[in-house]
Amino acid sequence: MILVTGGAGFIGANFVLDWLAQADEPVVNLDKLTYAGNPENLAGLRDDPRHVFVQGDINDRPLVAKLLARHRPRAIVHFAAESHVDRSINGPGEFIQTNINGTFSLLEEARAFWQGLAGADKAAFRFLHVSTDEVYGSLGPNDPPFAETTAYAPNSPYSASKAASDHLVRAYRHTYGLPTLTTNCSNNYGACQFPEKLIPLVLLNALNGKPLPIYGNGLNVRDWLYVGDHCAAIRAVLAGGRLGETYNIGGWNEKTNLDVVHTLCAILDELKPAANGQPYASLITYVKDRPGHDARYAIDARKIERELGWKPAETFDSGIRKTVAWYLANLGWVENVVSGEYQNWMATNYQNRGAS
Ligand code: NAD
Ligand code: DAU
Repeated sequence: MILVTGGAGFIGANFVLDWLAQADEPVVNLDKLTYAGNPENLAGLRDDPRHVFVQGDINDRPLVAKLLARHRPRAIVHFAAESHVDRSINGPGEFIQTNINGTFSLLEEARAFWQGLAGADKAAFRFLHVSTDEVYGSLGPNDPPFAETTAYAPNSPYSASKAASDHLVRAYRHTYGLPTLTTNCSNNYGACQFPEKLIPLVLLNALNGKPLPIYGNGLNVRDWLYVGDHCAAIRAVLAGGRLGETYNIGGWNEKTNLDVVHTLCAILDELKPAANGQPYASLITYVKDRPGHDARYAIDARKIERELGWKPAETFDSGIRKTVAWYLANLGWVENVVSGEYQNWMATNYQNRGAS
């Protein structure tokens, strides 16, 4: 049995589905079901006895203690977080509450549980913390990619909250000996991503004939990794990662935002041409930049390849085609997600934003 937090969100749900597709080890899935959590992501597991879903907050320590005592997991894989940079700029409070205080609560309960174990169970226990490359800050065009030894320099409330949680995890290893592992991954894309993030937002807006908002000049660079590859990397780290170590995970796929959006438009032109005959790229609209927008992220993923034999299976071309195909085949999922709350966020972030 493993305990997954945030397993109804984008990466967590992909992880739980992949995990149960590969092995029969059951999963307890603790998720608060914030706006980003969606039980529909896990619809394939309805009535599957290997999946125990619990709606709850990682800050609810009695609940976490009860789940650990009842299910006695051999590992905790911690995805639960507030994850969207723009929301953290608009309102950082929830990011502090979940990403920092929530991780602290989980670490405290994990420590108490682990200290109560003995022998082989104690030796086998793992706390795997899922984090981001954004903790390293922003690169210039000619800087080497982020390595595990790169100094932390988070720039947004989101990345600062994730950096704080990484430091807490490190401290619990160093001080108490808790058997921790940390992963720092680049931008994920794939099925079930909430359409506030660049790729699904552009897909949805294009299909609805709406402007495709590009922050600033569109030349910011991100490294893109297909979500299935991220899930495989986490499984590899859980299985063989060295205790207390961090592993950078990336796709070796640096792209400007404009490149990404043009690729999406070209695939849509091919698979679902616009009714008005116009290329989707004609909807590209430059809008006011994100405050403090990091210029470039890039990941040196050689350590995880060298130590654990993991490298991405998908290229950007193959992964992005799968992703567009998934959204086109799941417009019902999209319709259910685009609820009132989503409309509120779109108004908050994009109305009155103005041109760049
Ligand atoms: P997401 O926003 O899609 O999902 C987050 C999930 O956590 C949701 O299901 C939500 O309901 C749940 N949650 C939020 N607060 C909670 C709380 N207090 N208690 C319990 N559950 C709570 O996020 P995601 O994109 O799937 O990211 C998952 C993790 O991976 C995060 O820790 C994020 O920092 C990290 N990460 C994301 C990316 C990316 O590109 N999306 C890249 C690297 C790392
Ligand atoms: O690098 C890993 C991180 O990637 C994760 O830790 C975060 O959880 C995840 O949200 C993601 O952060 P980004 O800020 O890079 O992702 P986002 O999809 O929001 O933006 C990607 C790029 O696209 C970024 O440079 C901002 C730009 N962008 C984004 C949106 C939503 C636009 O130009 N227009 C938009 O409307």
